[in-house]
Amino acid sequence: MIDTSAFKAVVGRFATGVTVVTTRDGQGNLAGLTANAFASVSVDPPMVLVCLDDGSQTYRHLKDAGSFAVHILAEGQEHLARRFADARRDKSLLVDWRVGDHGTPSLRHCLASMECRVVHQYRGGDHVIVVGEVERLHVDPEQDKPLLYYRGALGGLTLIRLRSGEREISWGGATQDAQRAAWSEEFTTATGITVVQEGPTDYDDFREAVRRDACRFDLLDVEADFAYRAAAEGLLEPLDFSIIDRTRLDPEFVFDHGAACFQFALVLACNEEAYPRRGPECWADLLNTRRFPGRRALYRAPSPGALEAALLADGVAAGELYPLDLPRAFAALDRVRDELVFWSYGAESQRMLATGDVSMGMFWHNRIYDLMKERAPVRMVWREHLAMVSYLVVPRGVENRRAVMNFIAHALSAGSQARFANLASIGPVNPAAMERLDPEVAPHLPTSHHDERVSLDLEWWARHGAEVAELWKAWLPAEK
Ligand SMILES: Cc1cc2nc3c(=O)[nH]c(=O)nc-3n(C[C@H](O)[C@H](O)[C@H](O)COP(=O)(O)O)c2cc1C
Repeated sequence: MIDTSAFKAVVGRFATGVTVVTTRDGQGNLAGLTANAFASVSVDPPMVLVCLDDGSQTYRHLKDAGSFAVHILAEGQEHLARRFADARRDKSLLVDWRVGDHGTPSLRHCLASMECRVVHQYRGGDHVIVVGEVERLHVDPEQDKPLLYYRGALGGLTLIRLRSGEREISWGGATQDAQRAAWSEEFTTATGITVVQEGPTDYDDFREAVRRDACRFDLLDVEADFAYRAAAEGLLEPLDFSIIDRTRLDPEFVFDHGAACFQFALVLACNEEAYPRRGPECWADLLNTRRFPGRRALYRAPSPGALEAALLADGVAAGELYPLDLPRAFAALDRVRDELVFWSYGAESQRMLATGDVSMGMFWHNRIYDLMKERAPVRMVWREHLAMVSYLVVPRGVENRRAVMNFIAHALSAGSQARFANLASIGPVNPAAMERLDPEVAPHLPTSHHDERVSLDLEWWARHGAEVAELWKAWLPAEK
């Protein structure tokens, strides 16, 4: 009896290109899946075959449509390969497609594509071999290299950011762009390993995938409470400190299963036009609507920050925040409930504050600094800022272990850390990066406001995060 994963490991040693097979669903919209079981069959007449899982949605639609298109992906189109390999996604979202000459939805800008009419189908175990006669060909002259697939990897590592709340991050959010420029590009030049960025996903999906031994990611960039929780649940690979030099990192920011990769802060910020004379100066002012009228913005996700700010505002000393007095924190927030507005991702928070839609609130420091650089009328308060770090963690059982550890070592090096800090206005974790910071940027980083910070107990959050999330969701006002 052949074990399925052993079989996959063997056939995965056959290097292939990658295609996306598309067809029309019942409404004429695009359906499709990523497939590497593709071959040409006959030259005259021109025929190709694809081998499709008979349980896939794409095959179900293809049977009814009687036609399909095959797109050979180009180098750099990993995002399409991943999008079309995930059955749960709305595949047409953010994908550039049009209806082809023969009525089949087709993707633009692939290496080459062909529209086919189904002429034969043969059952092969749990798959169906679909043979199509090619009716139309297209080659994109702008593309010349194929995307390759070997041993389960699309040419490199997948760095993913989880639970960032920054929806735009997987399509070029500023932080992820900076990670690419500051960490990945040089790593790829040095090693030939490309780093594909994706995200965000969420904790439950990640846990499920690791437990089923089916995690598609090599490396995750996660909030600290996630890192501690995942380590406690046995979902992470221990870091290899023979490759990552632990002694060069701030000990506060490394543990056996994770290494912080940058520091950021949750700050109080206001729109100066709302308070031309004197603006808010501490979290107590966030709750003081008499003195500081106007709407306030908070992060919608149930993550560390808002509850701590509410307790500080209510008079709890910074050193006595934990364990969080949850009833007291929610009661404090209830005092301004009618004035609260919630943001889900960074760009949304910026829009709210810069347009004056809200007068003040809690924000990520780098987002406010970005607005300041654009001369928006905003101001941030470093006093009592809540210090956060983001961690790099590795899923248990990762295949490319050595490459991932090398990547982490590279991302945490002084040069990479300084480059990232200067590009993204986010604090470095490697002390040796400090002297390489751009003097324009340095005053706006948490590292220059160390004395004004309030530390969060992220281990407390790792233990109680799930319970807090339930309470937070129940308390959260309905979306307006
Ligand atoms: C590199 C790669 C190659 C794949 N090749 C095939 C294939 O040849 N045939 C297939 O049915 N599924 C293949 N898959 C899996 C499908 O893309 C995946 O099951 C998809 O989610 C099915 O989506 P659907 O149910 O919306 O049609 C492949 C996935 C990857 C990542």
